[in-house]
Amino acid sequence: MRVIILGATSAIASAAARLYAAEGANLLLVGRDENRLAQAAADLKMRGAETAEVAISDLGDPADVEKRLDAFVRQLGGVDHVLLAYGILGNQGEAERDLTEAETILRVNFNSAAAWCLATANIIEKQGRGTLAVIGSVAGDRGRRANFIYGASKAGLEALVVGIAHRFADKGPRAVLIKPGPTMTPMTEGMNRKGALWAKPEQVAAIVHARAYRGGPVAYAPGFWRYIMLIIRNLPSAIFNRMEI
Ligand SMILES: NC(=O)c1ccc[n+]([C@@H]2O[C@H](COP(=O)([O-])OP(=O)(O)OC[C@H]3O[C@@H](n4cnc5c(N)ncnc54)[C@H](OP(=O)(O)O)[C@@H]3O)[C@@H](O)[C@H]2O)c1
Repeated sequence: MRVIILGATSAIASAAARLYAAEGANLLLVGRDENRLAQAAADLKMRGAETAEVAISDLGDPADVEKRLDAFVRQLGGVDHVLLAYGILGNQGEAERDLTEAETILRVNFNSAAAWCLATANIIEKQGRGTLAVIGSVAGDRGRRANFIYGASKAGLEALVVGIAHRFADKGPRAVLIKPGPTMTPMTEGMNRKGALWAKPEQVAAIVHARAYRGGPVAYAPGFWRYIMLIIRNLPSAIFNRMEI
């Protein structure tokens, strides 16, 4: 199993990498922080990874994505799974006042991610097998005032990944979007993280890892979010608009 992890310093991706390492996978950890990636690679080798290498890249930059992805695949000696995990929450209030912040959220979470997804799709389609696993968010299911710019980027990503899965429907490769609910990672530090709806990164990672191997094109993590979001999506605006969520 040869796995490229885009955004390997993410707490959810790190936990998923540990599951791949326990299977003896060959890992390529891609991100911006060389020291943290090197530390993670050493840890993953101790945990059973056959190899764990690092590549430094600003993934939010959509330039030269095909060239960079080809280089990652060559460095790893081929690819079976690509896990796209990086993302930013951004600052909704600031993004409403300053469109450059909105552009950053949309570019990092959607434009660049779409480029990595499309480039990956072409590679795994050509080889006739492989998985593109992408981390979306329940925030993409219905825009709400607290984070609708982030939500819009994740909604766009869902349409893209589901479309790629459709393109692959009668072929060997797979594409899957995993939509976590609120998860206790650095991204949500400073929020009130009390309550039963908050997941640990390991819980979410177990679903990411399992769904990279099998299942339909969309998965919620934890699974109960499917039912919560079914209700949220179908609430009439008259009720939804009065809710503080
Ligand atoms: N936590 C939640 O509640 C939650 C809920 C739903 C979905 N998600 C999604 O889950 C995914 C993983 O996030 P997380 O919760 O694990 O948070 P996290 O630990 O904060 O991870 C976010 C990662 O994205 C990386 N990143 C951001 N911009 C990048 C760029 N331009 N180039 C390379 N790497 C970049 C960060 O790298 P640096 O360390 O270099 O900044 C960091 O490793 C994200 O897509 C997020 O949107 C999270």
